[in-house]
Amino acid sequence: MQRLAGQVAWISGASSGIGEATARLFAQEGACVALVGRRKKLCEAIAEEIRTSGGRALALECDVSRESDIRDSIEKTAEAFGGLQIVVNNAGMVQVKMLHECSGEDWDLVMGVNVRSMFLATKYAMSYLRQSHRGYIVNVGSISSFVGQAKTPIYTTSKHAVLGLTRSIALDYAADGVRCNCVCPGITDTPMLREHLDTTPDPEATLAGRLRRVAMGVALTPLDVARSILFFSCEDSAGVTGTSLTVDCGYLTAAEWETQGKTAFME
Ligand SMILES: NC(=O)c1ccc[n+]([C@@H]2O[C@H](COP(=O)([O-])OP(=O)(O)OC[C@H]3O[C@@H](n4cnc5c(N)ncnc54)[C@H](O)[C@@H]3O)[C@@H](O)[C@H]2O)c1
Repeated sequence: MQRLAGQVAWISGASSGIGEATARLFAQEGACVALVGRRKKLCEAIAEEIRTSGGRALALECDVSRESDIRDSIEKTAEAFGGLQIVVNNAGMVQVKMLHECSGEDWDLVMGVNVRSMFLATKYAMSYLRQSHRGYIVNVGSISSFVGQAKTPIYTTSKHAVLGLTRSIALDYAADGVRCNCVCPGITDTPMLREHLDTTPDPEATLAGRLRRVAMGVALTPLDVARSILFFSCEDSAGVTGTSLTVDCGYLTAAEWETQGKTAFME
């Protein structure tokens, strides 16, 4: 049985990684999917593959830092497929810098793409979600929603904020039948991870080092994360709202990890 038969999903950041895997999985589960992203050609190629396999998919160009792009893409999705039941706020970006190196513009950019976009997508989708018997919003957080990560102060702040936004939406729209939850991935092998690793002198060694503090010792695939997004986008998660699910191969279970030894002031 297809879990999302008759459902329409708007998925941001669908041109690669977790968003792409979610779009493909949702289409297999019977949903009409709008692949929303800045890189329209990539979204279009994925949408074409979905259509060729018998699914229903639409590619929409959208820079989630722009309010009008978000509003237009949501309206086009609802028009094309006759409604909207699922919003997956997945688009995100990371910036690797020490806090004192970040500008006010950096702050606005990362918070805009990672958090403000979720607020706006929810705002413009709400009338459609309310019209449906049930609505689902899934926000993509991170292990950085719970712990700090080195040299990514704005990213970490933005992902903590996603939890607060998720709870707030869940509370205020529960009576409308809209549930809102957050999926928090750990180390997932996507272009974002590779880009982040490439800022280090030896990316493979950096990855191996990070995986030493992951209980399962491996990186997640985008599909691993997409499966949890699916869980929150259907009645498999009936009764669950305002919560988060960490999908991290045990990253956050570690109470200790390899340290670099004494800090200078202790010597
Ligand atoms: N990969 C990881 O290890 C990891 C870990 C925790 C959380 N996440 C989160 O997962 C989500 C997806 O990231 P991913 O790992 O699949 O990486 P990715 O780089 O493959 O995907 C990010 C997507 O967001 C899109 N995007 C970025 N800025 C945008 C903008 N202004 N407008 C529209 N789209 C924009 C990109 O084009 C891309 O499609 C992000 O929110 C990220 O923070 C990833």
